[in-house]
Amino acid sequence: MPIPRQNYRACVIGWPINHSRSPLIHNHWFSELGVNGHYDIRAIPPESDFKAALLALKDEGYIGANVTIPHKQAAFNSADEVDHRAARLGVVNTIYLAPDRIIGRNTDGEGFLASYEEGLGRAPDYGNMSALVLGAGGASRAIIGALLDTGIGEIRLTNRTRDRAEDLGRMAANTQTRLEIVDWVARDDALDGAALLVNTTSLGMTGQAPLDISLDRMTAGAVLDIVYTPLETPLLADARAAGLTAIDGLGMLLHQAVPAFELWTARRPRVTSELRQHLVDDLNSEKET
Ligand code: ATR
Repeated sequence: MPIPRQNYRACVIGWPINHSRSPLIHNHWFSELGVNGHYDIRAIPPESDFKAALLALKDEGYIGANVTIPHKQAAFNSADEVDHRAARLGVVNTIYLAPDRIIGRNTDGEGFLASYEEGLGRAPDYGNMSALVLGAGGASRAIIGALLDTGIGEIRLTNRTRDRAEDLGRMAANTQTRLEIVDWVARDDALDGAALLVNTTSLGMTGQAPLDISLDRMTAGAVLDIVYTPLETPLLADARAAGLTAIDGLGMLLHQAVPAFELWTARRPRVTSELRQHLVDDLNSEKET
């Protein structure tokens, strides 16, 4: 008798959620790795009982879920166990429905680091480098957490609303990293000696104003934009023109999905150029419609 193969079912939960690219990514991996599984979308309204929704999914045979706006905090509160990254951020983006408990993780920081190192072609000497991070929302928090985990020498953090940056900057307390809050108006000068610039603001996104920053002070290194619509933001075009390494936001989106898929299936998928192209084609087709 053939041994029945596990049928992995997973989904992304959010509201609204129609435009998620996560099904494209995970279903690509299921088919590429020959793993029997399917990933779909669940629109769950903000006022729902999130834990009850997770338990209902488990009853349906789901192994896990990704979680996005507005449920990341509810996911954190619903988990019986969270990893140190989720604990530090207070938000969960990946749920594993284990037989006896709900496990929550946050993979955004890992996704950021993997994308950065992929773009650079190597792991940099974090201990001796300085990074400038623009913005102080949820994405910035995950990225700063990840940079602190590398033991990075210095982070300069700037945000239009300085208070939010100051609040986020407290994450660096009791770490070996020097974290400096810079006024938003002083962002150009704060690039002096920085090897990495990360834009976590929504500036540069289609329909938004471009990010106004001069890269003149940055002589070497990488510019990473978490915005991926458009793929080539004005910031990344400037970076390329200045001879810097430009890393688009698709990399982080792809790489944050890797640990989730691995958690559910115990198979580590790869971010290939074919998968990347698959997503680029999807983004372009949306532009046309
Ligand atoms: P996320 O959780 O996805 O990071 P968010 O919390 O809405 O999103 O954060 C968006 C970031 O973009 C914030 O740092 C925001 O700055 P404020 O904290 O001052 O709001 C930044 N941002 C949005 N529009 C901006 C603008 N026009 N100029 C400068 N920063 C802007």
